[in-house]
Amino acid sequence: MPTTTWNRHHILSLADFTPIEYDTVLKTAASFREVLSRRTKKVPALQGQVVANLFFEPSTRTRSSFELAAKRLSADTLNFTSATSSMTKGETILDTAKTYLAMGCDIMVIRHKEAGVPNAIASELDRLGERVSVLNAGDGQHEHPSQGLLDLFTICTLIDPLEPRLELLQGKKIAIVGDILHSRVARSNIWSLTASGAEVHLAAPPTLLPKWFADFVNDEDITGEGEAVAKEVFVPSPIPKRKLFIHWNLEPALRDADFVMTLRLQKERMTANLLPSLREYHQLFGITRSQIKHCQPHVKVLHPGPVNRGVEISSDLMDDPEFSLIQTQVTSGVAVRMALLYLIGSGKATG
Ligand code: NCD
Repeated sequence: MPTTTWNRHHILSLADFTPIEYDTVLKTAASFREVLSRRTKKVPALQGQVVANLFFEPSTRTRSSFELAAKRLSADTLNFTSATSSMTKGETILDTAKTYLAMGCDIMVIRHKEAGVPNAIASELDRLGERVSVLNAGDGQHEHPSQGLLDLFTICTLIDPLEPRLELLQGKKIAIVGDILHSRVARSNIWSLTASGAEVHLAAPPTLLPKWFADFVNDEDITGEGEAVAKEVFVPSPIPKRKLFIHWNLEPALRDADFVMTLRLQKERMTANLLPSLREYHQLFGITRSQIKHCQPHVKVLHPGPVNRGVEISSDLMDDPEFSLIQTQVTSGVAVRMALLYLIGSGKATG
């Protein structure tokens, strides 16, 4: 079992993650990846602990992956989905969390459609003096730290399978393409990738960029036929300045890229008509075989799933193992979530 120091009690955001914390997650996940390749894919690390998956919003891979990760660590798991719970009878989120607390839950993995819910539950647990940890499994448009970390692990293990570490991404060009406005995955990835020293380029139509990003692209940056040029943006963070490049069209973001992360068009979060049509979106921002010719020949494409086939990525590219890391991301997810549960959970049994 990995021995390591870890001081973070809740994992709610990657905004203030330090390089040491990233490397600790990567190293711990690598050792669990090795466990998962054995015949007996289980360790007793969290035996006797209870991990509750509180999913107030639909999920396939994140929920199953957290559940499997907890089981591989020998924890007992409880699964909650709001549609079949007492919330349908009017119970509040906080009362639901307190119910699981009363059952002796040690770690709560929380997903909610509103940004800030995992933070609010974590603060309330802290206020009550409880030692229960909260892991944010995606809150509204805010963050999805475990997805950011599994994407980081997927990329780093491709470069060095035995010793994945942050510095491997130094100088790599990574394009994040698509519905950045609604994407908590993009926000978490922006924190981790900029912390690694990778050159991070965002490409999206202006209507799918957060307003304050779009504001950085001024009129004088628009050239020719309304082509926006790259603009450097400095992201505010507790950790020194993070540089980002913003594009309103795809090609400059893809040029010589080592990795391309494409994002789902989150139609369920769109409150206005932000796009003329899905067909036009695919033509302008869809990742296809002809578009990835602008990238490095060794380029790999990631997508957090679920995918709108033929919209943000062409179906054939998605299924091509030469370019697509989508299945690897899902596999990495279990090892990374084991690492997160282990890091926040392993101190609890003795304390
Ligand atoms: C993402 C999510 O739910 O934020 N998916 C995931 O967790 N694998 C991205 C999405 O829904 O598009």
